Amino acid sequence: MRIPHTAMFIASAILHRRHRATIVSVSAFRLAGGGGAGVSRTSSFAPRPTPRRAVASSGGRGTDVAPLAAASASASESSSAASGSSSPPPGGRSSAAVTDGDLLSRTADAAVDGRKSTTAAAVVALDSNPPKGTRDFYPPDMRLRSWLFDQWRSVASLYGFSEYDAPVLESESLYTRKAGEEVTGQLYNFVDKGGRNVALRPEMTPSLARMVMAKKGGLPLPLKWFSIPQCWRYERMTRGRRREHYQWNMDVWGVSGIEAEAELLSAMVTFFVRVGLTSDDVGIKVNSRGVIAEVLAELGVPEDKFASTCVLVDKLEKVPLDEIREDLEALGLERSTIERLTSVLTNTSIESISGVLPPGSRAIEQLSALLDLCDAYGIRDWVTFDASVVRGLAYYTGVVFEAFDRRGALRAIAGGGRYDRLLETFGGEPTPAAGFGFGDAVIVELLRERNILPSFEGSGFDIVVFAMGSDLYRAAVEVASVLRAEGRTVDLILEDKKAKWVFKHASRNEAGYCVIVAEAEYENGEVVVKDLSVGEQRTVKIGALGDWAKEAFQS
Ligand code: HAM
Repeated sequence: MRIPHTAMFIASAILHRRHRATIVSVSAFRLAGGGGAGVSRTSSFAPRPTPRRAVASSGGRGTDVAPLAAASASASESSSAASGSSSPPPGGRSSAAVTDGDLLSRTADAAVDGRKSTTAAAVVALDSNPPKGTRDFYPPDMRLRSWLFDQWRSVASLYGFSEYDAPVLESESLYTRKAGEEVTGQLYNFVDKGGRNVALRPEMTPSLARMVMAKKGGLPLPLKWFSIPQCWRYERMTRGRRREHYQWNMDVWGVSGIEAEAELLSAMVTFFVRVGLTSDDVGIKVNSRGVIAEVLAELGVPEDKFASTCVLVDKLEKVPLDEIREDLEALGLERSTIERLTSVLTNTSIESISGVLPPGSRAIEQLSALLDLCDAYGIRDWVTFDASVVRGLAYYTGVVFEAFDRRGALRAIAGGGRYDRLLETFGGEPTPAAGFGFGDAVIVELLRERNILPSFEGSGFDIVVFAMGSDLYRAAVEVASVLRAEGRTVDLILEDKKAKWVFKHASRNEAGYCVIVAEAEYENGEVVVKDLSVGEQRTVKIGALGDWAKEAFQS
């Protein structure tokens, strides 16, 4: 092999050393606990708004970036022109904005005001934070999110579940249950322009029930569906609790036995194992609301008090017992009933709770069968019985469960249970159902805390391609196209950059190779390929690049 010419200079000892130095500093950052998706670090990835230099062979690539104020002024001009000239369409439906003349003139005025106040707007600093409790997803955050969703999707399909979705905006009435649940008070609700009471979904289960109901029994049961919706709750912000979160949902409809719950628990554990957690890190508490139902039935409490009682009992951990007692009394429960309930719920083993329940308890029978199936799945060491777990949603009717951090530092990782009567409360046919919701926030906290989250800092392209000089840009485009056709992810450097910048950029983004189109090699029908993992480089014939890529990336 002949000694590469121009490009060999780039790979000189100095640059190579710098490249290594970059890798060292990235690793040092990670070791120092900075592996998270830090926004401040990420923002340095953003392109600087400097005007681009015109490149002879690039057509329109030399266009300068228009000043922001001018761009917004022209945008408001075109919008005011549009609103000023619009008239109701001939026939067909018209939007409120078109038929409401007042609204039209207000819109036009606002557009004109917008034009007048361009200068004022330029000096009023915009709050660059997203609304409280919500998140921006910069590329590293987005990579983390996609990784998590991929894990969820892949586990769900491993268990034969199909993905579904629904609108984030739903009718408010889907959530206004009257059992005193926290979630009802946390609704992001408003009246839309058509006077409808709507809400951003705080959870997915009611939407799922609505979708099942809409098919009027036309869906083949049992169905196993999953989704990853964004949910909105006006929460008090604590660690792992925010005002929007993504929630992995897995639900089984049409199965009345605990086989459904066992399958769901197994899927959840499969996920934990895949991301590197063990049963020493995470446990799943299970209980059955059937226990409460049986105590209430034994003491003659009417069935309609069941859901509200469960919601109140769920608060036992967070609210002083005396307050809960008062609330239960206000609900109409006798003091003796309350004492009995609270004493039953402190039991920590199936044996001890069996002793305080009526003989032949169905709830205990089901819990024992569930634990036995967990044994068959090989997940028994993850699961513990805990009579105090009731969950806060009103619609659960039977088994309930909650995944928790065994160190006790974080809030519930996931929660779910059986909700056989939800469809009935919407006026549908009674249909058994069970499922869980698993939020993205707590699990990421936990993985970060255990230091088992992969790095998401680099973009992870396979190859960075760059031309040494703008007159070689067309050649670089061709090289990038060959490599992309081979299925490689290629970051083509779009501007005339110094080699030092390119290597630093490639290293920061954890690229595997740099392909350099340099004059002397190009004249010889070759490019320089630098393996960034070892810092070595060689020349490759352009015609053989496809084969080189196949070989370099074979796994
Ligand atoms: P949930 O217990 O209200 O259940 O929420 C399930 C999970 O979503 C929680 O364990 C937590 O991981 C996450 N989560 C809830 N609220 C927040 C929040 N404000 N910030 C961050 N994460 C949160 C349900 O939503 C049920 N619909 C689950 C279900 C599906 N049950 C049957 N099928």
